Amino acid sequence: MKDININDLIAKVDIVNVISNFANLTKSGSSFKTLCNVHGDKTPSLSINPKKQIYKCFVCDHGGNALDYLIWAQKFSWNQAIEYLVKESGENIEDYHSFINTKKMSDKEIKLIKALKDASDLFNYYLNISLDEENEIKNFINKRELNKDVIDKFKLGFAPHYNDENYISLLEKKGNDKSTLINASLLNDEATFPFFSNKLIFPIFDENNNIVAFSGRKISNETSNEPKYLNSKESLIFKKSSTIYNYNNAKNFEQLIIVEGFMDVIAFSKIGKENAIALMGVSLSKENISRLKKHKEILIFLDNDEAGKKATLKIIKYLILNGINGFVLKNDEAKDPDEILKEKNGENKLIKILDSKIEMIDFIFDYFMLNFDPNDFQSLKKAIIDIYEYSINFDDFIKLDLISRISKKFSIEKNIITKYFEYKPNVIELKELKNKNINTKQTLEIELNQPLNITKLLISIWQNPSFLNSINIGKILWPRAEHEKIYKEIKNHHEIGEKVSNETKNFIEENKKFFKSKESLPKNIESFEELIVRTKKDSKEAKISYIDELISKTKDEAHKEKLMKQKINILSRKD
Ligand code: UTP
Ligand code: MN
Repeated sequence: MKDININDLIAKVDIVNVISNFANLTKSGSSFKTLCNVHGDKTPSLSINPKKQIYKCFVCDHGGNALDYLIWAQKFSWNQAIEYLVKESGENIEDYHSFINTKKMSDKEIKLIKALKDASDLFNYYLNISLDEENEIKNFINKRELNKDVIDKFKLGFAPHYNDENYISLLEKKGNDKSTLINASLLNDEATFPFFSNKLIFPIFDENNNIVAFSGRKISNETSNEPKYLNSKESLIFKKSSTIYNYNNAKNFEQLIIVEGFMDVIAFSKIGKENAIALMGVSLSKENISRLKKHKEILIFLDNDEAGKKATLKIIKYLILNGINGFVLKNDEAKDPDEILKEKNGENKLIKILDSKIEMIDFIFDYFMLNFDPNDFQSLKKAIIDIYEYSINFDDFIKLDLISRISKKFSIEKNIITKYFEYKPNVIELKELKNKNINTKQTLEIELNQPLNITKLLISIWQNPSFLNSINIGKILWPRAEHEKIYKEIKNHHEIGEKVSNETKNFIEENKKFFKSKESLPKNIESFEELIVRTKKDSKEAKISYIDELISKTKDEAHKEKLMKQKINILSRKD
């Protein structure tokens, strides 16, 4: 498929031809003139510049390219306008289908985009004129070191205080109706006040350079009950989780730097790095994930506080689960990029941090080990559970790496942790372990050893049918139904020659390998009995607390009674 770019399409048509299909043009010097049908002209006020391929109506104060003309003056929908231009250019419509489908814009969306663009132009104008005199916004701009270049590049603006200036009526004069202004978060729901008042405005662009939202930074401390940044509400064209601040500029870079705030994106731009982006929250939509996937390398550089670390961890999870290559930048300072840049030697410090990337997995491990006290086995247990829960859906490759680290750090047998992770303890089993008081390394090992022991028991019976004669075997409480099923199949296989199911066969094959290489199985009936005793006590407790959980959840009285009987049965066993 062709790599389709809307500007190439527009360049393939002549705006003079396009407009002459709808209106009579007269030549006037090097340009053309015609009546503007939007405001209802008596004398021609719409001028067309063939050299620049743009038009402008001097009464409406509106202009643009051929595509803009079709949408604005002829009220074409986005799709209609694209189709029209394709025909006019003699291009093949087939090449543009995917573009038309994915870029389908409704009239409502076009109206929102126009309203936001008009508002942004106005805000930008207000900011520029405010800088000519001393006032609060100018002080703020100076304090934050936002120079003219930055203001232009990021189209920063100023929304004046609503007591000073009624910009809503100006937006209405430009053809934006009240309901569009409300939906665009420019007017409050009751249509009584502007949404943004006395704010520094950051326009938020989509990938195609349309403004889809604003964020307004409060500039005075007096109104301290307002949020620091007031964001547009979500709309047809603005969904937080699929918006990335500055992606319009960063999208062509191989590397992206994820930072926390708008000011941090700007800080990087000030030192010539245009590839910093800010996510609008930490949940990433499919759309944003596929955007990030296009890049060779993602660097995460969030604030060095608990919230920043938690957010980093969440982003890492998204990156790992989607196979995206990422690193975390090591920032030991309690400052964000914007603040670092302001320090002495700030630029060098930022550049240095860009060079100090660490592997995501190092960050994960360091994070969970942060509060780890080697003499406190409760904290050790918690660290292992936290890592287990965090990495539950990761590839084995990454899990094994984490397991080796845990094993090294805590000097716990790798096999124990491996089996524990492979066993995939369920919510109840995890809860139980969380609640259990662990005071020594041995008790922790016994707990984590449960899955290993259960598997050991099953494999030994498979390999050694004489273990079925054990006096304790009937008293084993298999922690899970799967285990009981495997046990029964193995028993029937040995006693009456029945075939085992495929799942059981797989279970045996895999674990046989494991025990051959790493763990020894009991050699005689005595060591087998010992293994049962080691396993039994805890699985009894496990089973009872599992039944208690079920009892507390069930509303069916008969079922409850049955569970109670089961519980009494287990409790009354003397072993
Ligand atoms: P921060 O509180 O870290 O602000 O929020 P910041 O980027 O350092 O801003 P300055 O330097 O104090 O001006 C980080 C980001 O979180 C979002 C904004 O996108 C902000 O840039 N945020 C923060 C909000 O959306 N609303 C808020 O009230 C605060
Ligand atoms: Mn900041």
